[in-house]
Amino acid sequence: MPDTEGKLEAKNFYPEISPKREAFFLKGSAALDWGMQNRLARIFNPASGRTVMLALDHGYFQGPTTGLERIDLTIVPLLPYANALMLTRGILRSTIPPAFTGGVVLRASGGPSILKELSNEQIAVDIEDCVRLNVNAMAVQVFVGGEFETQSIHNLTRLVDAGNRYGIPTLGVTAVGKTLTRDARYLRLACRICAELGAQVVKTYYVSEGFETVTASCPVPVVMAGGKKMPELDALQMAYNAVSQGAAGVDMGRNVFQSEAPAAMIQAVGKVVHESMKPEHAYDFYQTFRHEKKDVEVAAGPSSRSL
Ligand code: R5P
Repeated sequence: MPDTEGKLEAKNFYPEISPKREAFFLKGSAALDWGMQNRLARIFNPASGRTVMLALDHGYFQGPTTGLERIDLTIVPLLPYANALMLTRGILRSTIPPAFTGGVVLRASGGPSILKELSNEQIAVDIEDCVRLNVNAMAVQVFVGGEFETQSIHNLTRLVDAGNRYGIPTLGVTAVGKTLTRDARYLRLACRICAELGAQVVKTYYVSEGFETVTASCPVPVVMAGGKKMPELDALQMAYNAVSQGAAGVDMGRNVFQSEAPAAMIQAVGKVVHESMKPEHAYDFYQTFRHEKKDVEVAAGPSSRSL
């Protein structure tokens, strides 16, 4: 029923209180549209401004990677501890329960396998499928200095254009070829190019010297890539250093799912990322958790744990 004029006095319009103007919590994201900000808020925890993203997209160029042979058994039990997943649409559709409510960062480039030149990637998904899958961002590899540098940057800009039409952010992933030096100077160049050309988020490697200059010179959030498996304390230390030096979280794969205790490890990473817990304390947490609660109960099967 529409209001009648006589009842208007009963309403309270709070004319003396101005609506709050709240800045969006991620750097460089204030001018983005609501849908894009909302998608980013499902990848990054609005309370800490950071993310623990679990990378499991390795199969898109290297097949069944160690630890990812049975994603249903080894990764699905970890989903409650990840803010977001980075993965392919094949694994998303075939293996990830649709009741997963965290962020989905879809691998959107691909082509060559480890048997060929890796920089020769193309866009590997249509924007319509990204909308259909309700993804929160599209990830594209950018090979600055690589053989197919321009092609990979063109992949990024085309995804950014498509994403801007539908409110889906693009994550630029800086891939360092075997012949390039992985130092702050190179990463500043690669990250800045991704951001300048429209990526709303950038993923890059940690370097022990000058990482803070990489994050400072990138106008959008930088997420630290994990890299090869290392001892748990070292991985926690690297994550701690990265967030202390301006990273908006981590995107880790092998250092989680190849850990002896993946559920303990991803939660320890979460303590570092969201609570700025010192790495040695997070490592104590890891050790305690892994001994008190048996880690990922593969034997019990995926249905033994809920999302
Ligand atoms: C690299 O950028 C690919 O997306 C990888 O498949 C993945 O992100 C690597 O994760 P990690 O190095 O932590 O195992």
